[in-house]
Amino acid sequence: MDNTIQRMFSSISKRYDFMNSIMTFGLHKYWRNKSVKLSGVKNGDKILDLGTGTGDFAIAFKKKVGDKGKVVAVDFSSEMLDIFKKKIKKRKLVIEIMDKDVMTLDFEANTFDFVTMAFGLRNFPEPFLLIKNVSSFLKSSGKIIILETGQPKYPLKIFYLIYTKILIPLIGKIFTGNKSAYNYLINTAHNFPYGDDLAKKIKSIENIGNIYMKRFFGGAVYLYICSVNKVS
Ligand SMILES: C[S@@+](CC[C@H](N)C(=O)[O-])C[C@H]1O[C@@H](n2cnc3c(N)ncnc32)[C@H](O)[C@@H]1O
Repeated sequence: MDNTIQRMFSSISKRYDFMNSIMTFGLHKYWRNKSVKLSGVKNGDKILDLGTGTGDFAIAFKKKVGDKGKVVAVDFSSEMLDIFKKKIKKRKLVIEIMDKDVMTLDFEANTFDFVTMAFGLRNFPEPFLLIKNVSSFLKSSGKIIILETGQPKYPLKIFYLIYTKILIPLIGKIFTGNKSAYNYLINTAHNFPYGDDLAKKIKSIENIGNIYMKRFFGGAVYLYICSVNKVS
């Protein structure tokens, strides 16, 4: 495994949450909560959260599934996970945390109701292979929930390009000392497919059925709710 990405996330872990709030004007909390609401996740469900980082998406789902439900959260940066562990201790939540590369996961079929990921897909080495792999862990009614960056349409795109290409790397440098990490995060956001293009790619994966899509902030962020078609 190439651990450049792992090291990069570990290096920005302490300021990751703070930077998320600054970069999104605090809107990431709304996007996560709205995604949980639209996902159809209910009390008692079992969730697998990939690239869980400091855990905000996993925590939002845990609040929804309650004590009867279960959230398993996976990330390969132990520094990001250390911050997550502090949060769940403070909130007295029970979430199973796995320090592991998502590409190496192996669960039995029909284990989870939902596989979720926020701002992780574009960072994974083989995102579409991963979707295929994890779809096999789902129950036949299961869904894959993906929250990921997109790009807004003009005229908002002009502001978006200036903000992301110039201001975010600068803010990243000031607050984390790591401008290159934020250049990487922005470049991947600019180069990864989004909207209909991403939905089309995901839909072409074996087992994936209909996809519901919602745009946030003019398309700067998208939610994809992917049904799976399984012969169980
Ligand atoms: C942009 S962060 C997203 C964190 C969190 N889901 C959120 O919404 O804030 C991406 C996370 O994916 C993790 N990650 C990237 N590639 C991974 C891999 N192959 N296996 C496990 N975790 C990975 C990184 O360590 C990082 O914590």
